[in-house]
Amino acid sequence: MTLLLILIVNVVLMFGLVVFFGAPYLPTFNKQTETALDLLALAPGHTLLELGSGDGKVLVASAKRGIKSVGYELNPILFIYSWLRTRKYSGLVKVVWGNYWHKEWPVTDGIYVFLLDKYMKKLDKTIVQKYPSKSIKLVSFAFKIPGKKSVKTKQGLHLYIYGN
Ligand SMILES: C[S@@+](CC[C@H](N)C(=O)[O-])C[C@H]1O[C@@H](n2cnc3c(N)ncnc32)[C@H](O)[C@@H]1O
Repeated sequence: MTLLLILIVNVVLMFGLVVFFGAPYLPTFNKQTETALDLLALAPGHTLLELGSGDGKVLVASAKRGIKSVGYELNPILFIYSWLRTRKYSGLVKVVWGNYWHKEWPVTDGIYVFLLDKYMKKLDKTIVQKYPSKSIKLVSFAFKIPGKKSVKTKQGLHLYIYGN
């Protein structure tokens, strides 16, 4: 009984504590996942970076389109789950456990996020800082980049272009 309680407390903590670093776990719907990839319009061989990759749904959907992807996930349970889920796409998908604010971000063609409003300004600054001379497409579910005009909005997904 005590072990079960400890287990439950740990699971609750793993899902709850992420709110201090980013958005809590809430997966993008299937329809929006496909629309996000349509908006990013990446070609096979291009790379997608997902900040907070959750259960790996977007990573799998992009692999099915031949797109390479890197996902960062802080919650260890979701990291393990998504690692297992994406194993058969291991040539295309890489899942990394950790806090994306403190990780090296790979060279990428597109970024997908489902964050919270309070992190959008920081995201904007970080993209500009990390990719000063690269053209990057960003799709954000639900939340907008303050002061930046989106190129397109569809089903609550906002597309932004950085760089030239
Ligand atoms: C709203 S969910 C979105 C999940 C996935 N991107 C999707 O759209 O289906 C946000 C995810 O980001 C993870 N997360 C939050 N802050 C993070 C951080 N600083 N570094 C890595 N992952 C983080 C959470 O654990 C959660 O799985």
